[in-house]
Amino acid sequence: MNSTAIYREAIQHCRELLDRAQAVNLDEPIDFSLATVDADGQPSVRVLLLRGFDERGFVFYTNSQSRKGRELDCNPRAALCFYWDALREQLRVQGKVERVSDEENDAYWEKRPRLSQLSAVASKQSEILEDRQVLVDQVDELDVRYENQPVPRPDHWYGYRVVPSRIEFWIGRDGRMHERSIYEDSGQGWASFFAYP
Ligand SMILES: Cc1cc2nc3c(=O)[nH]c(=O)nc-3n(C[C@H](O)[C@H](O)[C@H](O)COP(=O)(O)O)c2cc1C
Repeated sequence: MNSTAIYREAIQHCRELLDRAQAVNLDEPIDFSLATVDADGQPSVRVLLLRGFDERGFVFYTNSQSRKGRELDCNPRAALCFYWDALREQLRVQGKVERVSDEENDAYWEKRPRLSQLSAVASKQSEILEDRQVLVDQVDELDVRYENQPVPRPDHWYGYRVVPSRIEFWIGRDGRMHERSIYEDSGQGWASFFAYP
């Protein structure tokens, strides 16, 4: 198989796995852990929702002024980890991170519930909040300000796409005889191989 065919196979496996996960999650959005690294090399990890997936990569939305946003500014690389206990399957992805287009951002923003839009506008994500009531009041104030009109998407709220350079499928098997199958672009094209569990 050539590099493109190997990558397509990896994406197809991801698609099938995400579909199965969606089925066991009763169509709830799929969450995953996102790891980023700051300028000093300190990693941090948090749970996010997967909001898009196709052959271009894995998309999530957030506040670009948050801790993760600042870390991605100085180091636009990330690692994702999904685990589904009901499936005994893990999916790990790593790669470069890029911004999604403004058309995609706007289309996704418009689908969000109004309260989520208001709280996304109000939230200075990751900054110190002295009193939760401050946020509640800000959301109420914005609700009045945008009464009977759409809530505009803040410029700093948008999607990121993790463009994979490595994808690992892990399947739990009895007696820790787990299966690990890896697809990787080492810089000279995609290859696939297995790893010891
Ligand atoms: C199930 C779940 C889903 C979440 N989804 C998102 C999300 O899609 N976008 C987001 O910005 N934060 C989401 N969060 C909150 C993040 O975990 C995190 O608290 C926030 O993004 C701030 O992270 P940071 O300070 O590292 O930037 C989610 C949390 C949980 C528990």
